[in-house]
Amino acid sequence: MDRFRIEGPCRMAGRVAASGAKNAALPALAATLLARESLTLRRVPRVRDVGTMRRLLEHLGVRGESSGDGFLFFPARSDAPSDGLYDLVKTMRASVLVLGPLTARRGRARVSLPGGCAIGVRPIDQHLAGLEALGAEVRLDHGYVETSAPGGLRGTRFRFAMPTVTGTENILMAAVLARGETCLENCAREPEIENLAELLVLMGARIEGAGTPTIHVQGVDALGGGEGTVIPDRIEGGTYLIGGLLTGGDVTLERARPGDLEPLADQLAAVGAVVETGADWIRVAHDGVLEGRDLETAPHPGFPTDLQAQYMTLMTQARGTSRVRESIFENRFQHAAELTRMGADVHVEGDLATVHGPTRLSGATVMATDLRASACLVLAGLVADGTTIVDRIYHLDRGYESIEEKLGALGCAVERIPGPPTP
Ligand code: EPU
Repeated sequence: MDRFRIEGPCRMAGRVAASGAKNAALPALAATLLARESLTLRRVPRVRDVGTMRRLLEHLGVRGESSGDGFLFFPARSDAPSDGLYDLVKTMRASVLVLGPLTARRGRARVSLPGGCAIGVRPIDQHLAGLEALGAEVRLDHGYVETSAPGGLRGTRFRFAMPTVTGTENILMAAVLARGETCLENCAREPEIENLAELLVLMGARIEGAGTPTIHVQGVDALGGGEGTVIPDRIEGGTYLIGGLLTGGDVTLERARPGDLEPLADQLAAVGAVVETGADWIRVAHDGVLEGRDLETAPHPGFPTDLQAQYMTLMTQARGTSRVRESIFENRFQHAAELTRMGADVHVEGDLATVHGPTRLSGATVMATDLRASACLVLAGLVADGTTIVDRIYHLDRGYESIEEKLGALGCAVERIPGPPTP
């Protein structure tokens, strides 16, 4: 397993381009299962989770080849299996996104149940309830979810018990081929959902309201292909913007959608940053003192849970007390203990972390437990004195494209130390 060696402190400054969003690319890749014609996806980030999803798709009969900054996918082989293998699915929860398209297109699916993960239990009951509402039979058997809808799915009205991102995406991908009209209520509103809906519409689906709590779908018989583009990664981009501010620097994120970054931009402005935006860029610069500000994560358009860990690192350098409440996942503070080992003053109680700052951080060997926790520790290494070793960076490789090159271009010394291959 590779590690990062980071020499701190450094000042992060310059321009960096956002990569395509991992969390928009994964549902778009799953949507290739629905296509009867070739489908090209542009701006797909070269990250590990995309590789895992491509392997799963290949197993399910969808072959893709590299094409520019994306991939060209061919329609699924008709004799391909409809079961997601445990070995592939266990490494990535988002594999569950094939359940909706497989059930809709092939009338059956068998996918290994995703287990618990580092950030919480993360059930998929809403995905299953949505498929049942669409007329599928759902069985849990030996750790697998099996769905069956031999006569096809039928339109329905379904209300999610809570806004779920991949749940909304999964049921949307199932509903596009269901007979008649489907009305989905209390949907998640993340920009990645709108991006998926745009792709499905381009393939021939009839969808209205994606990006709002209520989505209407008029089922169609079949979907074709086309060419879709993945939106910029607001979480990756947000990580660099926080890094710039944290290190007293000045970072301009290019090829971005500033509107998607508004919850972050508002929070950073409240902390004391200078924030400027243009049509496709956003600049965040340090302007004197950082003030500690409370934060609560929330579904979009609230502050994203995927930037909570990075924000916590920022708060270690801000003046005063800040309370960070995690309201999406029940176990997403594992980075707090590692930050404390580096000298941060963080106290966690339930879903609330209290940070007193500013504190001097010092380099240490730290271990990442999930993707965003890893990003927070890398940021901490950039502001800490001396050498920081971040272990288990395969988590980072799941979602950050060319991270050491991008950090290097922004003036920070981050070196990858190769280890034995990740299983
Ligand atoms: N939930 C249920 N039942 C369900 C589905 C969700 O109880 O059937 C709960 C979850 O346990 C959680 C809340 O609802 O408490 C919201 O979870 P959601 O389903 O929205 O999360 P997700 O779809 O599994 C996606 C992202 C995550 C991101 C969350 C929240 C992808 C592939 N993953 O996960 O991204 O944190 O939405 O925004 O889109 C990451 O990139 O690091 C990451 C974890």
